[in-house]
Amino acid sequence: MSDKIRIALTKGRLEKDTVGLFEKIGFDVTELRDKGRRLILEVPGQDIEVVLAKAADVITYVELGACDLGVVGKDTILEHGGRYFEVADLGFGRCRFALASKKGSDFYGGVGVKTVATKYPNVTRHFFEGKRMDVDIVKIEGSVELAPLLRIADGIVDIVETGTTLKENGLEVIEDVVPISARLIVNTVSMKLKKERIETLAEMMQKAL
Ligand code: PRP
Repeated sequence: MSDKIRIALTKGRLEKDTVGLFEKIGFDVTELRDKGRRLILEVPGQDIEVVLAKAADVITYVELGACDLGVVGKDTILEHGGRYFEVADLGFGRCRFALASKKGSDFYGGVGVKTVATKYPNVTRHFFEGKRMDVDIVKIEGSVELAPLLRIADGIVDIVETGTTLKENGLEVIEDVVPISARLIVNTVSMKLKKERIETLAEMMQKAL
C-alpha cells in the first residue's frame, strides 16, 4: 500500500463536484482540471493521488485496497455491495431510484407476473422483495426507458434526476424507491493504517460542503 492517500473519483459529474470541493478546501486543483487523458493525478503538496475510474471500478479499487478512499454514488453502492466503510454523504449528485411505467398504465393492476427492466437488478430485486411481489427482471445496459416503449417490460427501475427523460418518453413515476447522493467510502485496512490522515481529509471535505 502506497504511503500517499489515494482517492478514486467516479469520472464525470461526481469527479467535477469533488474537484470543486477540493478547490474549496484550498487544494491546488490545476492538474485535476487540466488532466488531458491522464487517469492518475497529483494534488501538489498534499500527498494525495487522484485516480479516475468508472463508478463500479471505484468500489473495486477501494475494496482491493488499490485506493484508500473513493467517491461514488449510492446507486452503485446499493447495486454492488461489498466490504468497505461508507463514511460520509457528500450531498452532491442528488437523484433517486424510482419505479416508472407508461403514463396511465396500471402497473400494480391486473394479474400475472410483471416484467421490470433495469440497469440495477439487485436494487430492483430488493425493492420488490420488500413488497413480497414476484417480478421478472430484465437487465438493460442503458436508456432503460426504451423497454416499456418497446413492450418488453411493464415498468422500469431507474435513476430519476429532473424527470425530463421520463416525461419526454411518455413515462411517469409510480413510486420512489430510494434517494441517491455521492458517498465517501474507505478501504477497511486503510482505515486502520492511515486513520488520522483519512479522518482529516474526510472532515475537511465535509466542512467544505
Ligand atoms: C440516467 C438515467 C435516466 C436519466 C435520468 O441516464 O438512466 O435515463 O439519467 O435523468 P433525468 O431525470 O434528469 O432525465 P444516463 O444519462 O446516466 O445514461 P443511461 O441512459 O446510459 O443510463
